[in-house]
Amino acid sequence: MSTNTIDNSRKVTTRRLTEMKHRGEKISMLTAYDFSSARIIDEAGMDVILVGDSASNVMAGNITTLPITLDQMIYHAKSVMKGVKRALVVVDLPFGSYQGNSKEALASAIRIMKESHAEAVKLEGGSEIKESIERILSAGIPVMGHLGLTPQSINKFGTYNVRAKEKEEAEKLISDARLLEEIGCFAIVLEKIPAELAARVAQELTIPIIGIGAGGGVDGQVLVMHDMLGINKGFSPRFLRRYADLSTIMTEAVQHYIEDVKSGDFPNAQEQY
Ligand code: KIV
Repeated sequence: MSTNTIDNSRKVTTRRLTEMKHRGEKISMLTAYDFSSARIIDEAGMDVILVGDSASNVMAGNITTLPITLDQMIYHAKSVMKGVKRALVVVDLPFGSYQGNSKEALASAIRIMKESHAEAVKLEGGSEIKESIERILSAGIPVMGHLGLTPQSINKFGTYNVRAKEKEEAEKLISDARLLEEIGCFAIVLEKIPAELAARVAQELTIPIIGIGAGGGVDGQVLVMHDMLGINKGFSPRFLRRYADLSTIMTEAVQHYIEDVKSGDFPNAQEQY
C-alpha cells in the first residue's frame, strides 16, 4: 500500500478519528440497533456506528427517547457488536442513567462496555454533567459529547426546533464544547444548530465535531438509519437527505408476497422439498 492510500480495512479507533480530522478526511456516522443492519452498514465502510437512544423512537415506537432503558440499550448494543468488525461503535447512555449522580453514570457506562463490548459511550449535555463525564473518563471509557438539540431534554425545550440561534445559548454551547474537549471527550455531536456556529466550534476544537442538522463545516455527519433509508417517512426535517425509499420497496414486496400466497403461486415446485 502506498503511503498516500487510506487503509479502509483498519479498525476505526477514537485516535483514528482525530487523525482523520487533522488530515481533513470527513467522518461518516450512522445509527444501527440490530445485528443484520449493523453488518450491512459496517461492510459498506461506515466509520462510526451509533447505537442511539433514537431506538426508543424507531425501534420501540415511542414519541420521545426518554422511555428507553439501560437494559434495552445494552440489548441493542450487543446485537450491533456481533455484526461489526471495522467501525467504532458508540452507545448512548439513556435518559436517567447518568444525569443525577456520577457514580451511577459510571456504573451505567461500565455495564454498557462490559455487557455489549462496545467501544465508547455518548452523553447529552455540557457543564451540568461534567462530573459524570469525568468519572466515566477516569475509568478509561471514551466519551462522545452531544450538544445543541439534546432530545432527552425535550420536555425542557418544548420543541425540536433549531437550538443556539440566540447569542446567550450560542455562547453557552461554545463554552460547553471547550469544556468537553478540555476534560477529555474524544468527539462531540452537534445537533440542529446554525451551520456557522457549528463550523466555528469545529475550527476551534482539535477533537472531531460530528453534525446532524449542523451544516457542512464540521468534521463529519451522523444520521438516523431509518430516516436516511426512508423507512420512517413521517420525519422530514430540512437537514435530512433520503438515500432510499425502503418504505415503498418493503410495502411493494410485502404486497407481492401476500398476492402470491393468496393466489397459490408461492411456493412453486422449486420452492419445496
Ligand atoms: O440517538 C440518536 O440517534 C442520536 C443521533 C441523532 C445523533 O443521538
